[in-house]
Amino acid sequence: MRSPTTAEKPRIPWARPSLVGREREYVVDALDSTWISGGPYVERLERELPARMGARHGVAVNNGTTALQLALMAVGIGPGDQVIVPGFTFVAAANMVLAVGATPVQADVDPDTWLLDPESFRAAITPATRAVIPVHLYGNVADMDAIGGIARDHGMFVIEDAAEAAFSTHRGRCAGTLGTIGTLSFQATKTLATGEGGMVLTEDAELDRRMRLLRDHGMRRGRRYWHDVVGYNFRLTNLQAAVGCAQIEQIEGLCRERRRVHETYRRCLADDPRFRPQRFADEVSPVLWTFGVRLLPRADLPARDVVMARLLERGIETRPGFHALSDMPPYAGPSLPVASQVSRNVILLPAYPALDDATIAFICEAFTSTLAPSG
Ligand SMILES: Cc1ncc(COP(=O)(O)O)c(C=O)c1O
Repeated sequence: MRSPTTAEKPRIPWARPSLVGREREYVVDALDSTWISGGPYVERLERELPARMGARHGVAVNNGTTALQLALMAVGIGPGDQVIVPGFTFVAAANMVLAVGATPVQADVDPDTWLLDPESFRAAITPATRAVIPVHLYGNVADMDAIGGIARDHGMFVIEDAAEAAFSTHRGRCAGTLGTIGTLSFQATKTLATGEGGMVLTEDAELDRRMRLLRDHGMRRGRRYWHDVVGYNFRLTNLQAAVGCAQIEQIEGLCRERRRVHETYRRCLADDPRFRPQRFADEVSPVLWTFGVRLLPRADLPARDVVMARLLERGIETRPGFHALSDMPPYAGPSLPVASQVSRNVILLPAYPALDDATIAFICEAFTSTLAPSG
């Protein structure tokens, strides 16, 4: 296939799920079986995905946000507790800390990886701190050696938000299996996509039991309509799990293509004094979610939003980095220097398995040429 040209104004989406396996067949099978709420695909997903990721237990839930809430509740976080979150993050982690009645405390991020900075994390600890949520943004994995060590020293839970980093590894172990509990999202743009959906991963049988209880109204297994604790309905449907099972069958290919997309971007966007791609530590092997580039603060460069608009004119959809938490009303407070700097200058370029190398080269050429002051 020839690569798109400017004149054609191609529309290159920022993300696109790959539903090219047995998704349709399994969904139809689930429909025909009449098991449309719980069912065998949910059980299969709970067996196969943790096994693939090297986790002992996995509890399927209806999205990555409830996965975080379930994790926080399972370790007993509640009013009076503080939980440390990165100041540059997707908001779900902070929102769910508030949802369980605890207080999110922001720590700054590393200027190159854009992930929780261990020293800022250490400095944010108080006697009320009970947990930390490293958020593995864009396919990267936080410095889990340092973060895990600090958390251990302070008797803290580590809840990894691996929504954007499914199958990325840190020293050969999957993101989401490195802390007390890991959370995943299966939203449409994610590496394993079911529309909406998620999972919590843990090694701990007691946490697994508690999360299953809380996911299903707090109802005791084997005693119908008897509720031991206050619970919720966070269940994944059999229809969504059917899609997930088909996705798992293709997961090696999906991850391979996302790795290729990453490598191609790295080749095409070599050193440039105008921007810096997100840095991945040597111990991280990423399965890319999106390719993030930070524009460097230079007076001769157009603003980030201008660059995004110019790319859209050329048919390329991009996204901005997340807003710093401290810039938004629910979390307003003193800004963290790196989080606020990074949040203003990050552009996220398209990344999905079907994105071919020629199109990536086209995106990179368009990106670098839009950085010229004249556009
Ligand atoms: C880092 C991160 N955490 C949590 C979530 C929430 O997941 P969901 O949309 O499945 O609720 C997302 C986004 O989708 C995310 O990117």
